[in-house]
Amino acid sequence: MLVKKGLTNIIEDEDIFEYKDSEHLYTSSYSLKNTWRKEGSARNFGHPMHSMASRSGSFPPALADYFISNFSRVGDLVLDPYSGKGTTPFQACLLDRVGFGIDVAPEAYVLTGAKVSCINHEEAIDYLNAIKFGISNTNIKDVPPDVKVFFSTKTLAQILVIRERLLEDLGLESDKLDYDNGKVFHIAKTRREQLAQYWLGILTGILHGSSSYSLSLPCSHSFSMAPNYTKNYAKKHGLKKPDRNVKICMIQKSFYLQSAGIARVQGKAYLGKAQELPDSWEEKIDLVVTSPPYFTAQSYAWDNWLREWLLGFDFKNVRKQTTQTASYEKYSNAMYLFLKESHRVLKPGKRAFVVVGDVTKKSGDEKIVIRTSDVIANEGKKAGFDVELIINDDIPPTKRYNSSFLQANQGLTIDRIVCLKKK
Ligand SMILES: C[S@@+](CC[C@H](N)C(=O)[O-])C[C@H]1O[C@@H](n2cnc3c(N)ncnc32)[C@H](O)[C@@H]1O
Repeated sequence: MLVKKGLTNIIEDEDIFEYKDSEHLYTSSYSLKNTWRKEGSARNFGHPMHSMASRSGSFPPALADYFISNFSRVGDLVLDPYSGKGTTPFQACLLDRVGFGIDVAPEAYVLTGAKVSCINHEEAIDYLNAIKFGISNTNIKDVPPDVKVFFSTKTLAQILVIRERLLEDLGLESDKLDYDNGKVFHIAKTRREQLAQYWLGILTGILHGSSSYSLSLPCSHSFSMAPNYTKNYAKKHGLKKPDRNVKICMIQKSFYLQSAGIARVQGKAYLGKAQELPDSWEEKIDLVVTSPPYFTAQSYAWDNWLREWLLGFDFKNVRKQTTQTASYEKYSNAMYLFLKESHRVLKPGKRAFVVVGDVTKKSGDEKIVIRTSDVIANEGKKAGFDVELIINDDIPPTKRYNSSFLQANQGLTIDRIVCLKKK
C-alpha cells in the first residue's frame, strides 16, 4: 500500500478509522485530526484578500495552504479546476507558486481573477479614477423587480453604470460566450482587462451583505437570498436599503483587502470547465488542490443569482453549465472527465487532493448516504491515478453549509479528502 510514503506528515493518528466496506478501495482512511487547522479559527487564517467575497461551499484558506506548502515548491504550477472564489490559486500565489483557477460560474471566475492578478491599490485607483462613468445605458425601470428588492434607487443607478463600464473593459459578454466550442470561454489578458476584473471582483464582493460598505439592505454576504423572503423579512424587521457612494465603498474595500500587501507572484483565472482543460497544459501542472460540487448538495448558480445578474448573466443559464446532478451515472461521468483531465495535465509523480463531502439521498422512504469520496476514488483509478489515501475531516456544526438553518446532526457532517497520485 502506498499510503504512508510522502504523506506521513498529514497523518496524526493512524488506524483510527478504517473502512473496508467498499470493495474497489484498497486504501485505508485516516482521520485528518484537524492537523491543517491553524491556531484559532481556520476561517480567520490568511490574507485579508481571501475575504473579497464570502461564497457558500468554499474551503478555508488554511486547508489550501496546508497542501500547497507540503506538496509543492516555490515556482510550481498549482491548479484548482473548480476554483470557486479563488482560495487555492490565491493561496498558491501568496506562497510564491503560480496559482491557476478554472470555474464555469462567472462570479467565481471574476473573484479568482481579481485575487491572482497582483494589482496594487495605487494602480487600481489610477485606473478607476480615469474612467468617465456618465450615465448607464440601462434604464432603472428595466431592472428586474427581484434585483430592486435589494438596493435603493440611488445606489442601483451607480451600480448599473459602474458595472457597464467595467464589463466593457473586461470584454465579458454573456451572450457572446460559446459554451459549445472552445475549452476556455474567457480570460483577462491585458492589464486593462485585469484591472476591470479586479474592480468587478470587489463590486461582486460588496454587492450584498451587512457590513458598512455592503450595497444592499442587510442580508447574507455568502449567498444571494431569495427576493420574496428578503422583501418580507426586511418589511417585518424595518430594514432599510442604504444610499451608498458605490465608488467610495469599492475603494474602502480594496484598501482593506490590501492591508497586508499583495502576492508577489501572478496567477491566472479562466472561465471554463474542469472537464476541458487547455491542451497546452499537458504535463505542466505540479499540484491540484480542489473541491468539485457534491451531486446536488448545493446550487452554486442559484446561490449567486444576484452576483450573476451583476455580471450580465442569468443564473438559469449558468446552472446548465455547472455539474449539478442527482444522477449517480451523470455525476460519476463528470468526475471521470475532470479526473482524466487533471491526470493529463499533471506531471508524472505529482498529486491531486480532492475534497468532497458525503451526501444524503432519499430513496423512497429511506435515506441513503453516498460517499462522494468513493466516486472520486473509483473514477480516479479509471483515469489512471493511484488512490493513495482518503482522509476524513469532521465539519464542526457551525461550519456546515446553511448551518444557521440546521440542527446539530444535520447537513454535511464530514468532508473526505481523496489523495491521488499520477504514476
Ligand atoms: C465546492 S465549490 C469550490 C469552492 C472553492 N474550493 C473555494 O474555496 O472557493 C465547487 C465549484 O465548482 C464550480 N463548478 C461546477 N461545475 C463546474 C464545472 N463543470 N467546471 C468547473 N467548475 C464547475 C462551481 O461554480 C463552484 O464554484
